[in-house]
Amino acid sequence: MKAIKSPRAGALSSALPALLVLLAGITADPLLAQTPETVPTLQIKADQISAQVSPMLYGLMTEEINFSYEGGLYGELIRNRSFKANPTNAVFWSTIGGAAISLDPATPLNDALNTSLKLDASAASKSAPAGIANGGYWGIPVRPKTVYHASFYAKTVNGFAGPLTVAIISADGKTAFAQAEVSGLTGEWTKFDVKLKTKRVPVSKDNQFTITTTSPGTVWLQQVSLFPPTYNHRPNGNRPDLMQLQADMNPKFLRLPGGNYLEGDYLNTRFDWKKTIGDISQRPGHESPWGYWSTDGLGLMEYMNWCEDLHMEPLLAVFAGYALRHDHVEAGPELQPFVQDALDEIEYVIGDTGTTWGAQRAKDGHPAPFPLHYIEVGNEDWFDPSHSYEGRFAQFYDAIKAKYPQLQIIATTPVKTRMPDLIDEHYYRSEEEMEAHAHDYDQYSRTNQTKVFVGEWATRVGSPTPNMAGALGDAAWMTGMERNSDIVLISSYAPMLVNVSDPRLHDPKSSMQWASDLIGYDALTSYGSPSYYAQKMFSTLHGNEILATSAQNIPEQTWQPRARSRNGVKQPRPPAQQIPKLFFDATRDSRSGVIYLKIVNSLGTPQPVNVEISGTASINGKGTATVLQAGQLDDTNSIQEPEKIVPVTEKVAGLGTSFTHTLPPYSITILEIKAK
Ligand code: AHR
Repeated sequence: MKAIKSPRAGALSSALPALLVLLAGITADPLLAQTPETVPTLQIKADQISAQVSPMLYGLMTEEINFSYEGGLYGELIRNRSFKANPTNAVFWSTIGGAAISLDPATPLNDALNTSLKLDASAASKSAPAGIANGGYWGIPVRPKTVYHASFYAKTVNGFAGPLTVAIISADGKTAFAQAEVSGLTGEWTKFDVKLKTKRVPVSKDNQFTITTTSPGTVWLQQVSLFPPTYNHRPNGNRPDLMQLQADMNPKFLRLPGGNYLEGDYLNTRFDWKKTIGDISQRPGHESPWGYWSTDGLGLMEYMNWCEDLHMEPLLAVFAGYALRHDHVEAGPELQPFVQDALDEIEYVIGDTGTTWGAQRAKDGHPAPFPLHYIEVGNEDWFDPSHSYEGRFAQFYDAIKAKYPQLQIIATTPVKTRMPDLIDEHYYRSEEEMEAHAHDYDQYSRTNQTKVFVGEWATRVGSPTPNMAGALGDAAWMTGMERNSDIVLISSYAPMLVNVSDPRLHDPKSSMQWASDLIGYDALTSYGSPSYYAQKMFSTLHGNEILATSAQNIPEQTWQPRARSRNGVKQPRPPAQQIPKLFFDATRDSRSGVIYLKIVNSLGTPQPVNVEISGTASINGKGTATVLQAGQLDDTNSIQEPEKIVPVTEKVAGLGTSFTHTLPPYSITILEIKAK
């Protein structure tokens, strides 16, 4: 489908009746027909199926960024639970009473958690308890009648046995919401588990977790943990509200573990999957390239559980011998251990229990293999200045295809010596750029056998989460991907998650390292951005057949692209261009016969459109319209107003093989139209 360009719709001069319709709710109103020269006409050819909608089109992309796991999806509430976030200080921990704390690498728990916190509570007394406190990730959430699971490893000397009081208390220390006592400490490292139950307390988040004693003594602590209830009650599991927001999008896959997070800054801070499995006390953790410590409590098995919980499959990105700060390993014998690591990783995911890594997976709690179809080799290897990807990709490709010929292999940048099954393209753009490129895939060669994975894309407008302009750019772009999903087989927005707690959001050391993220949250609550809802609409409302379409009188606007810099040198300003401001695509569910007509009106005025459906005898006059709209482009959702912009579904009447429908200003509409 190619939009036929025409002057911007003069139909907008008749905004008043359209506005009246808008006020009266959304209807398909033939009275609003404009003059044929000006009203956009959208033609749907119900007897021409141009391709099948890829069943895997809509997925998720994830990585540890913006405190996505630590302080986000991963249920752990204690910040710096293993005291490895800083090599010299027990950051995020404070003292209570006359306590003194220090890191003690001479008293490690084990080789992985190779330090501990030494708590000197020799000043403790009945009237002045001494101990430690942790404020979590911008707060510790408290809910009424909730069971929290606290645990830690501890050892002591000189017969000090405790007891220790473990508690969740208010920030001012005046209210204990839940507490329990732990005794029986010895000179050997021992794990203690305790349940903390709240009563009918108010919901709050500015709280802290404390461990105190009234008996003088010295205690060493490691892996001090506090978990709230998790999604599907999984031990070491995920935060329910953030899982539910994802579940509601009906995603088909999860691209994991990143992004830059896969690569790491250096080879030794890559996502080293073998160090992320097994008992969490045996996971050393590592520095994330986004500037903070990852405990790897959310490791490879937890990614798999996450996929299983949301009925999606993993899209596994394997480390390919290149790290962000340009450390790389040339193809050849030195790369072979990394190739073997990837083969082992795949075996961990899909090998039967008779294989080494399949057996390890069973030992880790999941004997059945997980579904897996896609392997991505590396991430954004166009950044590799050594141009070593050609050889690295070939070595991974040959080894993976030889052992697992059924797997589809994704390259991150074009290669010549092997034909990747898919190529991963990344697009971070403004609203206008998205609109200007919304028809790119219409032109993609149908004879090219390499398909496309749009593995990272987003309209980056709005911070910390996108506003309505972002959602409109996204929706325009999604019409192009969906209409061409014989080419774009899979896609995932990025980044998905952002902790919005830190008031210094634009400081990279805050809770956000990347602006415009799909879902925002603090310690207690979460919300979907307008872009989230746009994507939820697209991913949950579509058919399996792409219908051929054409259009006339698509409104346009003049857009002046920004001048860019190349190698620090500002380039000349590109010429102004005309870009479309109305976008659409149509799919049909072959079983129910429902046509899903998605229309995006990026203009701030009501927009009548003529819809003509050919190739079907008749259309049911009644259908539904699901609409996301906003009064202003910068309208958005937030912790304070989580549902300011959400889709509304209403019944519509007056549908037929030819009807006029008026789109609200700044809106995304999905009409469900049924052939009789
Ligand atoms: O999504 C944020 C980052 O953008 C990803 O980690 C990286 O792949 C891309 O550059």
